[in-house]
Amino acid sequence: MKITKICCIGAGYVGGPTMAVIAQKCPHIQVTVVDLNEQRIADWNDPNPENIPIYEPGLSEIVAEARGRNLFFSTDVDKAIDEAQMIFISVNTPTKTYGKGKGMAADLKYIELCARQIARVAKQNKIVVEKSTLPVRTAEAIKSILDNTGNGVQFQILSNPEFLAEGTAVTDLLNPDRILIGGDTTQEGEEAINSLVEVYSNWVRRDQILTTNVWSSELSKLTANAFLAQRISSINAMSELCEKTGADVNEVAKAIGMDSRIGPKFLRASVGFGGSCFQKDILNLVYIAKSYGLNEVADYWEQVIIMNDHQKRRFSSKIVQTLYNTVADKKITFLGWAFKKDTNDTRESAAIYVADDLINEQAKISVFDPKVSKNKMLSDLDYLETRSSEDNRDAISVFDNAYDACKGAHAIAILTEWDEFTTYDWKKIYDSMHKPAFIFDGRNILNAKQLESIGFVYRGIGS
Ligand code: NAD
Ligand code: UGA
Repeated sequence: MKITKICCIGAGYVGGPTMAVIAQKCPHIQVTVVDLNEQRIADWNDPNPENIPIYEPGLSEIVAEARGRNLFFSTDVDKAIDEAQMIFISVNTPTKTYGKGKGMAADLKYIELCARQIARVAKQNKIVVEKSTLPVRTAEAIKSILDNTGNGVQFQILSNPEFLAEGTAVTDLLNPDRILIGGDTTQEGEEAINSLVEVYSNWVRRDQILTTNVWSSELSKLTANAFLAQRISSINAMSELCEKTGADVNEVAKAIGMDSRIGPKFLRASVGFGGSCFQKDILNLVYIAKSYGLNEVADYWEQVIIMNDHQKRRFSSKIVQTLYNTVADKKITFLGWAFKKDTNDTRESAAIYVADDLINEQAKISVFDPKVSKNKMLSDLDYLETRSSEDNRDAISVFDNAYDACKGAHAIAILTEWDEFTTYDWKKIYDSMHKPAFIFDGRNILNAKQLESIGFVYRGIGS
């Protein structure tokens, strides 16, 4: 099937950027991204491309180029499904918050709704592509829903997981390490795989496009995230040992990273990983392993999450201990709230949990983040349901520049590794703070020697 019309259900952090890049690289394909969230679609259609709902370096330029030409954002899901030959499902698959598998399994209700809607609307044969991250064997459930419509329409299900990281989504999409496409090993399955290979071949080398069976593709995505998160928990575990022994985790990371079998990437010790996916996907993996009775496998991967939770809690405890065992009514300034730099996404950000701990200790938190709004920060805290919204509002003040946020603070905590934090006039900040002035660098991005020479008490991770 030669693809000329694509629909993507879900205009989020994956659907939006992924489809923008497909539209840019394939001007002959009409790409329509649909979502139930009217505000999100209105924001994607904002006449000023700088106002699109997701901040990613380079994304607004691509949207400006393709939008209205062959890239469209709409709330008319039925129409887009009806017209497309290929439908990407890119909706959220959060951890279940109810029923069986609560707190572990992936909630597939949005996926199932999409499958039912496609089944209801489709009048011609379609290729349905799983873009969302899904438990292994989800394609089976989707196929069962689609094949039982009784209207004779044929569906092929492909798995095409997304490996982009936020903050570098555009470069990751333009230069992917690999594209993974899983499909049925039947002739129809292979034809469907080839149709999708052809789409990506417009800008990705053929030898970087890997085709597998559906189950390998689904499981590879969970495995990749588990391995990546495991590296962070591994180096974070060593960071605690470094603090006890006088070793420096940055030096240890460099030393082991030069072993070509280990490699240098993803060895930055931190306050703990965040983001919408690592925790959710590992919990899902743990749940799947348990459901097959593989308890040792489940325990092995669960430890990655346990270590990460420990690292976040350890950071807040260290702040309390260092500030003479009380932070009550002290002003602690957070620089950064996003879960990593160059994104406005805060899902599962370590900052939320550290703030929650410190508010429990009656600290007053001031925050500056270059891209995250006050409303977002407050809704992140409210979501934890630790205390009332009013109490969260009393405990947090949000500033639009770092200098004002740090004025009169007892301590500063770096929660996100935004580049601009390294360029500040730290002497000016020091002069405006209570003394002794503490800095807790949860990202090891600041120059400890320079700060100590100014007079700061500096505490990094793992040194
Ligand atoms: P998101 O929450 O940003 O976006 C999902 C969108 O789907 C929302 O806007 C929601 O309104 C919409 N939606 C839900 N149900 C719908 C329906 N029935 N019809 C129409 N729209 C519907 O989520 P995301 O971060 O883009 O993640 C999507 C999937 O991609 C998840 O499975 C995630 O694990 C995976 N993933 C995410 C990333 C990432 O960096 N965020 C990277 C790789 C994979
Ligand atoms: C991650 C993966 O890197 C992507 O390949 C995957 O597609 C995506 O999850 C997903 O499935 O959602 P993302 O979460 O956007 O991408 O960002 P990462 O760069 O992986 O960072 C995740 C978290 O780990 C951040 O909080 C980051 O600060 C932290 N991190 C990362 C460290 O603490 N140390 C490191 O060395 C690297």
